[in-house]
Amino acid sequence: MASIDVCYSPELLHLYDLKGKAVVAVDILRATSTMVTAFAHGATAIFPVMELEECQAFSQQGCLTAAERNGIKAEGFDLGNSPFSYMDGAVKGRSVAITTTNGTRAIRLSEAAEEIVIGSFLNLKRVADHLKQLQLDVLVVCAGWKGMFNLEDTLFAGALAESLLEDFTFENDATLASLHLYRAAKPDLFAFLKESSHVRRLQNLDIHQDIHYCLQHDLYEVLPVWQHDKLIGV
Ligand code: MLT
Repeated sequence: MASIDVCYSPELLHLYDLKGKAVVAVDILRATSTMVTAFAHGATAIFPVMELEECQAFSQQGCLTAAERNGIKAEGFDLGNSPFSYMDGAVKGRSVAITTTNGTRAIRLSEAAEEIVIGSFLNLKRVADHLKQLQLDVLVVCAGWKGMFNLEDTLFAGALAESLLEDFTFENDATLASLHLYRAAKPDLFAFLKESSHVRRLQNLDIHQDIHYCLQHDLYEVLPVWQHDKLIGV
C-alpha cells in the first residue's frame, strides 16, 4: 500500500527521497489556492519561478506576470497573489508567470519527484481522488513561511491524510500530527487559524476576504500538474 508523508518546509526537503514519489505542493495562503483559482478561471498555463527578474522576463513571451513578496503585490507586475485578481476573465486564455514568497519555491524545489500536483482546500477532493488512482507514495510539501512551519499548510496535509486514510499508510509523526491538528481544526478552520502568523500578517495588510476564500473546500475540480517547465490544469 502506498504511503503519505508530510514535509513541513522546503528547507527539510533534503531529508526526503522524492524519486518515484508524487509531491503535493501546498501554500494555502495563498499561492496554490491562487493557482487553482487561475486554472478554474481559464488560465492555460502557469510558470512558477523563484526570482522577480525571471518572472518579469516572461512578459516578452506574452505571459501575464504575477509577483508577491511578504504578502504584498510587487511593483511592475500585472497581478499579485490574491485569488480574486484571477477571476472575471483576467487570465482566461492566458499563461501566467508567477513568483511568490514561498509557494513557487516549494514547487520548484520538488522537481525531482515523479509527479508534482498543486493542492489547496479548493481542490482537495480532486487531489485525493487523483492520488488514490495514481497509487504512488505521496509527500505533501508545505510551503511554510520563509523556511518555517506554518499552520494552514499543515492543516491541508491533515485534511488530505484524512481523505486517504483507507488507501494509504503513514508511519511518520508529521502525517499523524497533521491529521490530529486538522481534526481539531475541522469544526471551524478560520477560528483555529485566527492567531496563526500568516493570517495575522494578511489581516494587518487588510487582506481578509482571501483568507475565508482559501479555506473553502472543493470549490473546483481542476488539478494543476507540473509538466517539464510549467503547470497545466487537468
Ligand atoms: C506565499 O507564497 O507564501 C504566499 O502565497 C504569500 C502570500 O500570498 O501571502
